[in-house]
Amino acid sequence: MPRTFVICKPDAVERGLVGEIIARFERKGLHLTRAELRTIDRATAEIHYEEHQGKPFFEDLIAFITRSPAMLMVVEGPDDAGDDIYAVVRNLMGSTNPATAAPGTIRGDFGLVVTENLVHGSDSDESAAREINIFFPGL
Ligand code: RTP
Ligand code: MG
Repeated sequence: MPRTFVICKPDAVERGLVGEIIARFERKGLHLTRAELRTIDRATAEIHYEEHQGKPFFEDLIAFITRSPAMLMVVEGPDDAGDDIYAVVRNLMGSTNPATAAPGTIRGDFGLVVTENLVHGSDSDESAAREINIFFPGL
């Protein structure tokens, strides 16, 4: 089954929005195959977000994603949804900045600040495989 990697970020856990976010994925027809509440350590966060190293927001991003527990999830969809499960998830999430994300999306409905944008989803099949291996090696 095609799968992708999703994080309910610390703000989502702190605000009690994990159930709401998971419910949206489940109602769409996606399923969790693995889920774990975990405080991400700095070294792992730097590997996960290595494409952003050196950018002006990098330190804020690492401080945020490591500040309290996050819900780490592997999400799968049916074979006949094709190889685009990551794209289905990204559409449900909405665009990066919650202030301008479309209403009806997770970020558009619940966020206002670009750093605290509630949810992460892999941006390609290659990223999904890479990120699952970082957080759930061997899965
Ligand atoms: P994510 O990786 O967390 O799922 O988010 P994304 O693909 O929508 O956005 P990406 O470009 O990968 O950026 C990663 C995270 O960095 C923060 N960010 N801040 N201040 C800024 O201009 C800025 N740009 C990005 C966001 O928290 C974003 O989720
Ligand atoms: Mg990204």
